This record gives sequence, C-alpha cells and structure tokens, in this order.
Amino acid sequence: MAAPWSPDTWRSKPIVQVPEYPDAEALESVEEQLATFPPLVFAGEARELKRQLANVSRGEAFLLQGGDCAESFAEHGADNIRDFFRVFLQMAVVLTFAGGCPVVKLGRIAGQFAKPRSAPTEKQGDIELPSYRGDIINDIEFTESSRIPNPQRLLKAYRQSAATLNLLRALATGGYANLDHVHQWNLGFLKDGPAEKHYEEVADRISECLEFMRACGLTPENTPQLRSTDVFTSHEALLLGYEQALTRIDSTSGDWYATSGHFVWIGDRTRQPDHAHIEFARGIKNPIGMKCGPSTDPDELIRIADALNPENEPGRLTLICRFGAEKAGENLPALVRAIEREGKSVVWSCDPMHGNTIKASNGYKTRPFDLILQEVETFFDIHRAEGTHPGGVHLEMTGKNVTECIGGAREVTETDLSDRYHTHCDPRLNADQALELAFLISDRLKRDRAEPAAPRKTASGG
Ligand code: PEP
Ligand code: CO
Repeated sequence: MAAPWSPDTWRSKPIVQVPEYPDAEALESVEEQLATFPPLVFAGEARELKRQLANVSRGEAFLLQGGDCAESFAEHGADNIRDFFRVFLQMAVVLTFAGGCPVVKLGRIAGQFAKPRSAPTEKQGDIELPSYRGDIINDIEFTESSRIPNPQRLLKAYRQSAATLNLLRALATGGYANLDHVHQWNLGFLKDGPAEKHYEEVADRISECLEFMRACGLTPENTPQLRSTDVFTSHEALLLGYEQALTRIDSTSGDWYATSGHFVWIGDRTRQPDHAHIEFARGIKNPIGMKCGPSTDPDELIRIADALNPENEPGRLTLICRFGAEKAGENLPALVRAIEREGKSVVWSCDPMHGNTIKASNGYKTRPFDLILQEVETFFDIHRAEGTHPGGVHLEMTGKNVTECIGGAREVTETDLSDRYHTHCDPRLNADQALELAFLISDRLKRDRAEPAAPRKTASGG
C-alpha cells in the first residue's frame, strides 16, 4: 500500500537544490497567494497529452520536446515565443512528413524557470556568491543583492507563464499553424541555409498534397487538423513550493493535477527515491518525466518507476536519457533491459544536450553538434537492437540565430561563440541547427521503418 499523499507531503522528506530564502514568511505569503490564482492548464489537457504519449510508448507517434534551458524575464517577448514556435512547427512538419509519424509537440516553455546547479556558489575572481538558480528564484547579475532568492519572483514567473501560454495557444489554434502557411514558417534570416533549402522542398511537397486534398474536398476550413495543432507545455518541477501552490483537484475525476504545465519532469540531481521531488511527482496525475543519466542504477530505476507509475499506465512516465555520446552505448542498454524485464510501459526519450556539455578553449560552455547527433544515433541503435521504441527527443533550442552550440551545416565555430551567446543557462541549438537535427532524425525514422526491426529480445536478455 502506498503511503497517503497530499500536495504537501514532500515537505517532510529530505530535499536538495532548495534555495535559502531569507524571509520564510514572505515566501509563505506568496505561496498562499499563488494558491488562489487560476490554473495555467486544465486536467483534461494533461490527460490528452498522456493519451498521445501512450501512442508514443507503442511506437505510433514521436515526441518532440524542446525549448530554452531557462526562460528569462529579460527575454520575455512575442518575437521570441513566435520564433520558437515557428521552428518547432517546422521540425514537427519535417518529422511528420519525412519521418511519416505523428508528432507530439511539447515545449520546454511557459514555466521553465528554476535551475538545479552543480555548485551552490559561483566564483568570479576573488568574489564568491550564491549560484544563479533561474529567474523564478534569483537574478543572474553577479552581485550580492541580485543573488538573494526573492519570493516576488514566483509571482512574476507565474504571470509570464500565463502570457506565454496565451500566445502559444493563439499561435496553435488561431490560424498561424494552418498548413496552408507551411512556406511562411521558414525563418527570414536563414532562408539560404542548407536546412532551410531542404525545408522548402518538403514545404513544396506538402503544398502539393494540400492541393490534391482540396480537390478532394478536404480543406483547412472543413478539417480542423489542417488549420490548427496541439501544443503542450512542460518544465522541471524543481521549485516545489510553486508547484504545490498550483496543484489542484480536478473536479471531473477528483484527482490531483499540477496545473503549472501539462507535463513536469524530475531532474538528474533530484531523483533520489526517498526524497521530496519523487514524493511530489508520485501524487499528481499528469504525464511526468524523469531524467536518467550515468548515475542511474537499473534496480533503483525500477523502484522509482513503481513509485511513480504503480498502475503501469501507458503515457504516464517518460524516461529522458542524458548520458553523453560516449556513455550512452555503455549505460542505456542495462536500463532498457531492466524496464523490459519488469514489463514496464515507458516512453523513451533522448536528451542529447546535458551529457555533451564541454568548455571551449575560450571558456564558453558549449555543445558540439556532432556529439549531439551521435548520442541521438546511439539512442536509435540501442532501441533497435533491444526491440524497443526510440520515442522522442528532448532538446534545448531557440528560434533565434544564437551562437551557443558549435558545429552544424552552417558551422558555428569556437570563435563565433562570443557573437550571440545569450542563454541564461545551458547552450541551445539555434534555429538552423534545430531544423537540421529534425531532418537527420526524420531520415533515421524513415530508414528504420524501411528495414525490418530485429526480433524482440526475451526477458532474460538472450
Ligand atoms: C535541464 O534539463 O536543463 C537539466 C538541468 O537537466 P538535467 O537534470 O538532466 O541535468
Ligand atoms: Co539545461
């Protein structure tokens, strides 16, 4: 029997990665206020996402999850949101059309503010200050006062999430995502890039299909699937006081749902089985994710999967694997075999970003495009060998022409990094690199579909 759960049972568990607020009363009062605010998403939407993720778990759809490493207050604007949405749509169209597979679109957006850090403090010269933990907690500026956690930031993050989600919903359903506009989604500043040329070819073929369908009587006016799309939101459920305040009972089912986003995940640093973050996540009915890395033990993974998904509900649990290109081959098979042996239903997703971060010779934190691609390829190879489904990818990306990750067909070099390095945390793929990656993944999906898969392995792994 599972222990009783309520949105605050996490408070009696050990916890890591918590900010130290100097004024506990001020924090409590903000959390009380948040608890009276409207939900950002509805339980029915989270259930629809879970249904779509169940399709992914059966290999009938592909999960595209992506967005900023950390959203910021400074970069909150319509252009950023639209440019992200635009390249995300392009990627989804490429994967759907070239890869021949429905795509579940899940943004790391409208709530992705809190950051776990590997060190509690940051040193610049002789000065040591508390680390930046994301705009919902403190300020990135390197001064003593900026780095003090400020509860008012929770309110600002909530309002920014609401405004971002509002624009996303409008873009998804208000005409922008109409397939008739497939050519217009190509980004202006990249028109002559290799990925954009390739995209133009796909867009031409889609337009041809639409003309044919129009001739048959199917038009965006009479077929909603052609004029609008579903887009869901996700973020790391790190700041549990914020999450608790937005966890509400769904009146239809009587179940608890996190309403801060459709999908939340547990990060690599906070997935200790007896700790607060797992405790919080086990009680909400949303689809949830958990990062897996080189330190994930297969037996422990099974225990966590039991705690998070006791009824083995398809679509409930997504395992987001972030090993690094080198370690994926060594570590992922054991996790896949353990999950298969125990008959657990999961979505396997590949985060090729967080295990491939390096320091460039000029000091910038970056990620080589080649390593990102290599980890994705290894992920596909392993699932093919094990007879399981490579369900999706989890990317840090932006619609802007930033220079944060090196490589790609329109190459970003180490010297370019200083040109447009804007991220508030980890380096992101720019629009060009993100679209190029979508093409490479769609090629792989198509290729794997064309060749018969290996026979499924037995429970003993033989
Ligand atoms: C992240 O997704 O930004 C992150 C911090 O990842 P991880 O928990 O896998 O390190
Ligand atoms: Co990150």
